[in-house]
Order: sequence, then C-alpha cells, then structure tokens
Amino acid sequence: MFPKIDFTTTRAYKYLVDHFLTLNEKSLKDLFAEDPTRFDKFSITFNDILLDYSKNRINDQTFALLIQLAKECKLDEAIEAMFSGEKINVTEGRQVLHTALRNQSNEPVIVDGEDIMPKVRAVLAHMKEFVQEVISGQWKGFTGKAITDVVNIGIGGSDLGPVMVTESLKPYKSHLNLHFVSNVDGTHIAETLKKVNPETTLFLIASKTFTTQETMANAESAKRWFLESGANESDVAKHFVALSTNSKGVSAFGIDTKNMFEFWDWVGGRYSLWSAIGLSIALGIGYDNFEELLAGAYDADTHFRTAEFEENIPVILALLGIWYNNFFDAESHAILPYDQYMHRFAAYFQQGDMESNGKYIDRNGNRVEYQTGPIIWGEPGTNGQHAFYQLIHQGTKLIPCDFIAPANSHNKIGNHHQLLLSNFFAQTEALMNGKTEEEVVAEFQKAGKSQQEIEKLKNYKIFEGNRPTNSILLKQITPRTLGTLIALYEHKIFVQGVIWNIYSFDQWGVELGKQLASKILPELDGNQDVKSHDSSTNGLINQYKAWR
Ligand code: F6P
Repeated sequence: MFPKIDFTTTRAYKYLVDHFLTLNEKSLKDLFAEDPTRFDKFSITFNDILLDYSKNRINDQTFALLIQLAKECKLDEAIEAMFSGEKINVTEGRQVLHTALRNQSNEPVIVDGEDIMPKVRAVLAHMKEFVQEVISGQWKGFTGKAITDVVNIGIGGSDLGPVMVTESLKPYKSHLNLHFVSNVDGTHIAETLKKVNPETTLFLIASKTFTTQETMANAESAKRWFLESGANESDVAKHFVALSTNSKGVSAFGIDTKNMFEFWDWVGGRYSLWSAIGLSIALGIGYDNFEELLAGAYDADTHFRTAEFEENIPVILALLGIWYNNFFDAESHAILPYDQYMHRFAAYFQQGDMESNGKYIDRNGNRVEYQTGPIIWGEPGTNGQHAFYQLIHQGTKLIPCDFIAPANSHNKIGNHHQLLLSNFFAQTEALMNGKTEEEVVAEFQKAGKSQQEIEKLKNYKIFEGNRPTNSILLKQITPRTLGTLIALYEHKIFVQGVIWNIYSFDQWGVELGKQLASKILPELDGNQDVKSHDSSTNGLINQYKAWR
C-alpha cells in the first residue's frame, strides 16, 4: 500500500525539531574535529561512484533520526508499491514503471494482470534493428542516400533526457549528427533546418501524448519543409518516425505505425529517456551503449530496492535534502557537475525534480503546511565559480550543493583535468571551512597592510563557511555510470515525494498556462482590441497587435 503519512506528525520529526536546535550550534568544522571517522562513516561507493556526504551538517544522531523518519513514513512500502506496479500515480490512475524499461532480470512486471516485459523487450528489439540499419547506412533516404543527421522534435521529458544523455556521452558518439528541436519559437526549427539536408535527415517525432502544441507545430513545419524539398508523401516513411504512446495521433500525422516506437502510459514523461524516447540516444551513441545505460540504471534500481536505508544512496540524498529544506529552510539546491559534457545535467533534473515535487496538495487532498520541492539549478564547474559561487560562499542564503566529477576525463589535454579537479576539491573544502578572522588578518599582515587598512577590509574577506555539500566522484562518465547516476537521482526525487506526502508523478501545474494559451491564440488574429482579460493582459496583447 502506498502510504499517506504527514511526516510532521512522526516521532522522528519531533525529535529532529529539537535536535536541529543543538546541532545548529555546531559548525561542520567542529563536527569534523569531533569525529575523525566522518569520511568513512558518511561515504558510500557503488558502481564506480563514490558519494561523500560527510560535509553535511549532520552527526550520528541526525543520521539515525532521518533514517527513522523514512521508516516512520513507511518508505519501504512505498518503494515496493512503485516497483510492483501499484497505481501510485493516483491522480492520473497510472502505475509508475520506468524501472521496467531497464529491468535486466527475468522477473515479470505485471500491469493489469499482464506481464509487460515482453512488450518492453519487443520495442527494444525494434529500436536495436532500426539503429543498426541507420548507423550502418542500410536505411536510405528518398534519394537513396544514407542518413547523416537526426533531428529529435520533442519537449520537456521528450527532449531534456535525450539532450542531456547524448551531450554527457559525446565521447561515445556515432557518426550521426544529432539535433534537438523543442521550443515552439520558430527560430529553433528554422535554425536547425538550415544545418541539414532533407535527403539525409531523419526526424524523430518524440511525444508521449502526440498532442503537445510545441512538438506538433515543429513536426508539421519539418514535414512541410521536407515535402517542399521535392519529396512526396510516400517518402515521409523514410524520414519520419514517431516515439509515442498514441498510435491514432501518429497515423493522423501521416506516420506509418510501422515506423512508430511505442511506449506506455505507465512511463512518466520526465522518466522516459529509458523508453522509445531514448531512440535519439541509441542512434547517437549506438545501441550497445544505450543498453549499458539501461543496465547502469538497473543496478541503481536494485540498490534502491534492496539496500538498507543506512546504505541506500537515493534515501540518504533525499533525507539530506529534507533536512535542509524543512529544518534549515533552504529554498534551493544546486547541482554542479565538474564535467563539460554534463552541461545539461542540472537542467534535466530541473524538470525531473521540480515537475515532480513542486506541489502543495498532499496525498490526502489537503494543502501542505510545510515546504516541498526545492528550486533546482546549476551550471558546470568551473564556469559557475566565476558566476554565482560568490552567493553560495558569502550570500545570506543556505544553498546545499551536489558537486559531481569524473576521476578520469575523456579528453587528456595537458593538466586540464588536474586543474579542474583541484577546483572541485577546493570548493567543497572552502564552503565547509570558510576563512576565519584570524586567517584573514594574518594574510593581510603578511602582505604588509597597515592596521587601519586591515580593519577597513577584513570583514569582506571573512567566509563563515559551514555550507553543506555532497561530493559525487565517478571513476569515469560512461554509459553505465551515467545510467546509475541518473537513476539514483530519480529515486531521490521519489523518496522526497513519499516523505512530503505528495504525488510526484503527475504535473497538473503545467496545464493552466496551456489552457490559457489556447484561449488567447485565436484572439491574436485580426486587429480588433482584446478586452476579455485583466487590464495588464489586455494591454500587452493590444500593444503586440499594434506593433506586429
Ligand atoms: O511539461 C509538461 C509535459 O507534460 C511533461 O511532463 C512532458 O515531458 C512534456 O510535457 C512533453 O509531453 P509529450 O511527450 O506528451 O509531448
């Protein structure tokens, strides 16, 4: 049974409220001084990934109470409910089974009395065959030429995952050039079409629903462009394939369902890169590497389902997040990959996390009286250091951060990687220790500054420190380790949703804007003044009409 427990009514929560007051008096520096075994105690290695969470504002008692909180919220039952196919996406009446897409075991996964694994494997086999044909050049375009470019047209979960993974795994790239079009802003498709040749381009129309306005508009424009190039309707089959759950919509668009790669409503959009939506990934890095990605995710699934909470990476990451979100009142969480290829990782989890846990109605239908999902943001290091780290170090807000880096770079150029990693290690140390008044004064004195100058400047140079971080060090970014890392983060989001007692797998908050946009769209035709809205919206629309 999927539990519905208000975590603020648990005993663990009440203990944590008191414990917070005593622990808050201690700095991270004190905690390290008190316990030389912190790193051994608060770190885990799994699948060539080391998570060091020792630089968090916790001690043994905090950790034990957080684990107790998870237990009192019946997290174990929630995990089983998800994996075993209970309809835990209650408001949409669906199961949540992206884990079945990467299930490497022989265990069946039952949905409405049917084992879904044969269907999952059939789509994977179709993807494999297709990817091999396209990569080998056997698949020909309408003039008999092999495919050179693939354009994925999709948005949200039908875009962000494939973009993030193909960027992160660029060292494994096939010879195909990948392009991604998501924004309904015509610039996005127009600029992409300038780069490709209709004779050698394959369009993947990626949409779970096949009704999403942005994707449909971009797909229609791509098809028009293709037909205007001299191709005819019967050539569409060679250049357009669909990744969707909606076969009717796919046929209506003019794509033969033979060229449709199916997935199912029990795959959430933002958890869909493991499904047919991953076709661009498989084309981009080869099918075997795509399988490795799935296998890495399966490793994380097994870990999450079987490891004790005390050694369970998603559970630990989630509980630490709750500690800062609900006790320290932290509002955001930064994800900072020290790997240029992972430059879309934070953007990917912006959707993954914020669309999942940005909710204020609990599983009993009531407004929550506590904070839920944090604001997720981040950029790759070291660029971030020269942009927003000032605020993380000396701003008034507490921003817990995840620092992620590979021990081995795919590009061995001079000492670049040593430079990068020296920054990775230095930042978490600096955030933790800060810089004391004594250290600042000593530095000034050494530089020969006068007492007067020192007094004037010293406060600006002091760092309070005590800023918490996780460090995630991977042996290397490979399809397998990346698959594991993504799935660990996915499960972290799930755990937080369980504890906040919200439904993490719907996204009703995206609907209102869509509804209003379709109401406004016809009002943008013609020249007459619009009067149906508030004065601001009317004023903006009418100015637009006057200026266009
Ligand atoms: O942003 C809302 C949303 O429904 C996401 O959850 C989803 O990933 C995206 O739109 C795209 O939806 P579709 O794949 O159906 O086009």
